[in-house]
Amino acid sequence: MTFPPRPQSTQLANGDCVVAWLRPELVHGSRAIQECERILCSDELVRYRRFLRPADRHRFLVAHTLKRIWLSKFLQTPADRLRFEIDQFGKPSLLGDHHRRLAFNLSHTTGLVACAIADAGTVGIDVEDCSRAINIEIGKTVYSESEMNAMRALEECEQRNRFFQLWTYKEAYSKARGLGFQLPMKQCEFHFPPEQSVQPKFGADVHDDPSRWRFVSRLIEPNHRCAVAVPIERESPGRVDFYEFSERDLRAEPE
Ligand SMILES: CC(C)(COP(=O)(O)OP(=O)(O)OC[C@H]1O[C@@H](n2cnc3c(N)ncnc32)[C@H](O)[C@@H]1OP(=O)(O)O)[C@@H](O)C(=O)NCCC(=O)NCCS
Repeated sequence: MTFPPRPQSTQLANGDCVVAWLRPELVHGSRAIQECERILCSDELVRYRRFLRPADRHRFLVAHTLKRIWLSKFLQTPADRLRFEIDQFGKPSLLGDHHRRLAFNLSHTTGLVACAIADAGTVGIDVEDCSRAINIEIGKTVYSESEMNAMRALEECEQRNRFFQLWTYKEAYSKARGLGFQLPMKQCEFHFPPEQSVQPKFGADVHDDPSRWRFVSRLIEPNHRCAVAVPIERESPGRVDFYEFSERDLRAEPE
């Protein structure tokens, strides 16, 4: 699948969600790194410098630069002026007099960072590196019995795909709710009826109606799975678009 490089419009309608993703290794060279460091605030720089492994540090830098640049396009505010707050569960949100319904969420994994922005009050995103070795039985900790049985019944090559679909849907939903490990993950089920889109089913302890949500999943070749969870506005789902960023896009100032 190919993704468009940048959006035609920086206007979002109710319920719209736009995702930008980038491979951190594309950002290299001292000038590019310095430009990213210039955009981050002091708190972010403190966190950035705490990483011991250079790869983790670099990924953090690129992820938070992407977050700021992507938001700045929709807020018409310079990337380095944006301010954030963090709630009791660790979920960051925009601080200040911005459009109150504009929400964002960030995810990073080996080889990929992604940021979702939605005009929907909240949004959750998860990206995972599907090339890493897994034993699907570790899913038992967060997948329901029926999700596990459906996954075990698949051909071996399909099991890995299902494993990461489930993982990213659940994680994206949990991040949209912002409750972290408080959410009973086994009760947030996702089913895959033949020829139909994914069907979420929530148990009583989730205290939510799955028809209130739109779930979208994309395979970002060669090794990454990305899922987003966005609330549906007034029974009509907005658009969910994915954009591939280059190193040049990170340098762009708001129009
Ligand atoms: C905190 C948590 C949301 C982070 O998820 P992760 O997969 O390790 O990391 P991701 O890269 O996807 O997301 C991290 C980003 O999410 C954001 N974030 C942090 N806490 C968050 C929360 N409670 N809700 C939403 N977003 C959160 C931050 O921007 C963070 O980036 P930063 O640390 O660089 O600022 C996650 O550990 C968690 O609580 N999961 C609970 C659900 C669960 O049990 N999942 C198991 C698999 S289904």
